[in-house]
Amino acid sequence: MAGKVQAPKGTFDVLPEGAGPRLRLQHAAEELLGRWGYDYVETPIFEDTELFARGVGETTDIVQKEMFTFDDQGGRSITLRPEGTAPVARAYIEHGMHKRPQPVKLWYWGPFFRYEAPQAGRYRQFNQVGVEAIGTASPSIDAEVIGLLADLLSGTRGLRLRISSIGTPETRREYSDELREHLRAHEDQLSDDVRARLDANPLRAFDSDHAGTQAVMRDAPRLLDRLGDEDEEHFAQVRALLDAMEIAYEVDGTLVRGLDYYTRTVFEFTSDALGAQSGVGGGGRYDLLIEQLGGPATPGIGWAAGIERILLASEAEDAGERLDVYVAHSDDPLTAIYVASRLHRRGKSAQLEHAGRSIKGQMKQADRLGARVVVIVEDGKLAVRNMATGEQQEARDRDDAIALAEAVA
Ligand code: HAM
Repeated sequence: MAGKVQAPKGTFDVLPEGAGPRLRLQHAAEELLGRWGYDYVETPIFEDTELFARGVGETTDIVQKEMFTFDDQGGRSITLRPEGTAPVARAYIEHGMHKRPQPVKLWYWGPFFRYEAPQAGRYRQFNQVGVEAIGTASPSIDAEVIGLLADLLSGTRGLRLRISSIGTPETRREYSDELREHLRAHEDQLSDDVRARLDANPLRAFDSDHAGTQAVMRDAPRLLDRLGDEDEEHFAQVRALLDAMEIAYEVDGTLVRGLDYYTRTVFEFTSDALGAQSGVGGGGRYDLLIEQLGGPATPGIGWAAGIERILLASEAEDAGERLDVYVAHSDDPLTAIYVASRLHRRGKSAQLEHAGRSIKGQMKQADRLGARVVVIVEDGKLAVRNMATGEQQEARDRDDAIALAEAVA
């Protein structure tokens, strides 16, 4: 016998039992984002590799070791998208969206791919919901997008929001030099990983879970204390706006995001219900990205949240959908399907027997499905049973049965 083929490592199937909360979350996201004026976009699942190399940054973990990259039959280097911001920025440029009224506010939902070590809440194919608001540097849009994510995550257990500002690349360059000096002075205490990236990206040392590195970072200089006046003012306004929205946050100068395009505001929501992979959603401003990808100088800000992590950290018990009507029948599928289809047209949920069970077996099946009402079509007669009370009524004809079932369901 041939061996069983299984789903690839780090992937999962969404089975019927787990589909309800996911679909409801998608529906809730669509409603919420629509109310705030965000329009839905879709970009391809794969892009030219160059987009992510240029957009996300050559020195990031994502580009260096986590991308699913391959050559297509035409010899082009293709990458399964590891994130959504660079693709949306590309689409903004490609479709001349700077000519539309600004800001252009977009949202997306779909699968993303990163070659990471799988563990609880971390997969190689996962789903994100995200927004990008492109075309304004106003601090009010920063507060708006953060507020939106706070709203979307309001049913999440143990939620915490951290925010910071990382200023401009120039500030960061000067600060990096200062930080590099501090790290060099304590080089023997650092992890190999951090030491190897000391030149390229010393800021990543804040991200390290290595004890020695963490000790060195505790008295490292803080970028937040080195911001230019305009960036500092921008960050002060973002905080005041969040206060006005009564959104609780902590300012955390050690917050590092794993993507290179950020400028000024960065933020992250974590949940203590998640364990090691505690990041539920995060994002920030990327005022230079569009220009870097060949578009006109255009500021932007956005976030993405992991669907699987939201569901894992969700407070809601899945109540499940109840069935209004089950149509049981012994020998008259024409009447049964008529009754079920009419009930559907009247907005009820209805299912009918397809497996040839006995009427007794069908009543059990109706019970398993949590049906409120069963219409029984048997020996040329129709009856309607209220499953909560056990009461059963004869119906004159099929339309009478529909009316009776509708009244109870
Ligand atoms: P990110 O922080 O890399 O940001 O990912 C956002 C969220 O995606 C994370 O908080 C996490 O919930 C989820 N996520 C990431 N990797 C995995 C994984 N391997 N398995 C499961 N979930 C995962 C971005 O992707 C940016 N594009 C966000 C953004 C939008 N910034 C500005 N605009």
